[in-house]
Amino acid sequence: MTGSDNGRFYITTPIYYVNDKPHIGHAYTTLACDVLARFKRLDGYEVMFLTGTDEHGQKVEKAARDKDVTPQSFTDSVSQNFRDLTARMNFSNDDFIRTTEARHRVACQALWSILMERGHIRLGSYAGWYAVRDEAFYTESEIVDGKAPTGAPVEWLEEPSYFFNLSEWQEPLLEFYEANPDFVGPESRFNEVKSFVRGGLRDLSVSRASFSWGVPVPGDDAHVMYVWLDALTNYLTATGWPTDGEFADAGRNAKFWPADLHMVGKDILRFHAVYWPAFLMAAGLPLPKRVFAHGWWTNEGEKISKSLGNVIDPNTLAAEFGLDQTRYFLMREVPFGNDGDFSRRAMIHRMNGDLANDLGNLSQRVLSMIFKNCDGVMPALPADPHDEDRALLAATDALIDEVRAQMGRQAFHEALRSIWQVVSDANRYVDAMAPWGLKKTDPARMAEVLAVLAETIRQAAILVQPVMPDSAARILDQLGVAADARDFTAVGGKDRLQGGTSINKPEPVFPRYVEDEAGQGV
Ligand code: MSP
Repeated sequence: MTGSDNGRFYITTPIYYVNDKPHIGHAYTTLACDVLARFKRLDGYEVMFLTGTDEHGQKVEKAARDKDVTPQSFTDSVSQNFRDLTARMNFSNDDFIRTTEARHRVACQALWSILMERGHIRLGSYAGWYAVRDEAFYTESEIVDGKAPTGAPVEWLEEPSYFFNLSEWQEPLLEFYEANPDFVGPESRFNEVKSFVRGGLRDLSVSRASFSWGVPVPGDDAHVMYVWLDALTNYLTATGWPTDGEFADAGRNAKFWPADLHMVGKDILRFHAVYWPAFLMAAGLPLPKRVFAHGWWTNEGEKISKSLGNVIDPNTLAAEFGLDQTRYFLMREVPFGNDGDFSRRAMIHRMNGDLANDLGNLSQRVLSMIFKNCDGVMPALPADPHDEDRALLAATDALIDEVRAQMGRQAFHEALRSIWQVVSDANRYVDAMAPWGLKKTDPARMAEVLAVLAETIRQAAILVQPVMPDSAARILDQLGVAADARDFTAVGGKDRLQGGTSINKPEPVFPRYVEDEAGQGV
């Protein structure tokens, strides 16, 4: 076992509203989770990676009505788009949950009943503002120019409603934050959460009575549960909770709950870092270990919106630039946690610079030289390494610990930067050692230099597998690395590239993006 306290890792994406087609924002959150899930599996953890769709509520009901179809048939088709995206983006989720599934209704109603029995829910009536787009309630003081602080239109709502006694959880939440300083990342966002809670919490309306597309409140069919209480519960449902219910899986629940990480966008942090822990505390259930809020993408400097017509379809990006290139760009370009801008120029720059030139060229040059100059047989590492060899191998061996720590903080961009630092070291080493010149003068040394480089490429390729699974696999195939020698027990100096294996003629893994005059890829 390489790292975990219990060897298990449960990671979740938000579940996506099915009112719309998947776009880059959705792909981004799930990609970040996919990278971590893959990383943890390679690091020896038993992983549960969950994603899915959030199908109830007024917003989805309205979207179905606009299309003149029933909510069920509408959600069936849009949910499928999200499922298709997971395959297209090579996401490795272990489960895909839909909130319209029976297992989820059972879990929601069980959680509701527990909260009710423990005296945390009471019947009252709500009068206030509601934004369907955000599926959120707002107070008078939050309304800016007749709109929600998010810019969403609001409507006045007056209806009977059940309330959760959120106001009583202010102190317990603050104590919990105090005791768990890593509960929310990045830190600046945690500070926002704390000051929101310090500002005082009001009881939360947790049911709606003016429409019916939701999970019925147990014992009161006039109400459906507030879509956020319903949605957040998905994280429990998928673990086989309640453990005495119809869809119980006590073993799975014990293994994976509490979740290690809920990955969310900054817009939905409050629901995950305030409401969700309050519901769980009230129900007497363990709290998730961490919530990380990432930033938002803009498109060439503009906010992404349907009305501006500038929504970025991840399928189009993958088709134009390549799937792994797109995955790399999204994880490398922007410090994770910050907002970021998508631009074609930046995408092409990364694709041609970091991938085609730096890693791609390195591996193609080294493998070609081995193929041509060493009769296609992997040379052995030097028995008596030179200082330069030692330095490059030491930097390579040090990577895993560095990258593991960076991944542990969800600093994907830093992890990739560290790996590329070693790729640059290797490119400098190749230029300094000039193995092409050694071919005639000292072929034995040439073979050593190529072996040191191949070893560096091997470790770099193993480490980039979570971000670029297909491309990394192709490099590892070309290096002749066995499929069962690609996890993280094979990096960090414990394992070395074996000399003596035959390799095939290498093929470039990372093509260059060449634009024609009209700015199109050719
Ligand atoms: N259904 C709720 C989540 C319930 S979780 C219990 C929801 N769904 S959503 O489809 O609107 O958004 C899901 C995620 O997509 C959020 O984390 C949000 O931050 C993310 N993104 C939506 N647009 C985005 C960008 N332009 N950029 C980055 N991520 C963005 O909220």
